[in-house]
Amino acid sequence: MKDLLKGKVAVVTGGNSGIGYQSAKQMKDAGARVIITGRDESKVKIAANELGVLGFKADAANINETNQLVEFVKKEFGKIDILFVNAGIFAPAPVGQITEEMFDHQMGINFKGAVFTIEKFLPILNEGASVINLSSVNAYTGMPNTAVYAASKAALNSYTRTAATELAPRKIRINSVNPGPIYTPIFGKAGFPEEQLKGFAQAMQNRVPLKRFGQPEDVANLVVFLASEKASFITGGEYNIDGGININPLLA
Ligand SMILES: NC(=O)c1ccc[n+]([C@@H]2O[C@H](COP(=O)([O-])OP(=O)(O)OC[C@H]3O[C@@H](n4cnc5c(N)ncnc54)[C@H](OP(=O)(O)O)[C@@H]3O)[C@@H](O)[C@H]2O)c1
Repeated sequence: MKDLLKGKVAVVTGGNSGIGYQSAKQMKDAGARVIITGRDESKVKIAANELGVLGFKADAANINETNQLVEFVKKEFGKIDILFVNAGIFAPAPVGQITEEMFDHQMGINFKGAVFTIEKFLPILNEGASVINLSSVNAYTGMPNTAVYAASKAALNSYTRTAATELAPRKIRINSVNPGPIYTPIFGKAGFPEEQLKGFAQAMQNRVPLKRFGQPEDVANLVVFLASEKASFITGGEYNIDGGININPLLA
């Protein structure tokens, strides 16, 4: 919808790839001015140029860099209306082989990074702003190898509920989006060999009642809606977007 976000300023963390990239594109198409972030300067620059938006290198796990991001955004736009807390990693490991380093790294981006992104942006969120946290249906599943990943997302959803109550007096809405399997580069970045990745994708797809992986567009449609004033009575919610996998875990 062309003018759905007209006049809004949006920050998308982890906007150089996958769901963040597509959401930034759709937010821009809906009329918003958009800033994307990422941890790799050159990737952020390339994506920002492709999208025709602003880019800023900021590692979500580094609070100094988040402070610098907020200063940059403040200087460019003053205040913002949409904060899409999307940056995240998937680092699987079985219980018994969870290292402290992996725990800190994954929690540091997916949960601590998310919390402090919001914390640091709070002073420049306009009244009526929308914060969207990219979580996962893993928050509710016992999928093997995802104990820490799933916990990082479950923690984020819990945080979202409390923050929604506390931010309501400023009319700031905050919601979580829980995707199922979405076709993005995230699984390749987890270091699986190509063959294993294909097997995993096939097995996963077979378990989805709608029999397909989601596309970044599917999630971006929901994110744009939650960001817009069409969702002005929605806060503290969680939205599964998963082809039904979460309601049918025993499907062969
Ligand atoms: N794909 C799925 O099936 C799925 C399902 C449920 C939830 N999710 C969640 O969706 C979100 C987006 O993932 P995606 O699937 O779109 O994967 P993706 O294509 O890998 O995108 C993730 C983005 O986050 C960035 N990022 C990672 N660590 C960062 C950090 N420390 N600071 C700043 N940016 C960082 C990545 O940058 P680089 O390019 O440098 O890695 C990339 O731009 C994640 O929170 C993920 O957990 C994904």
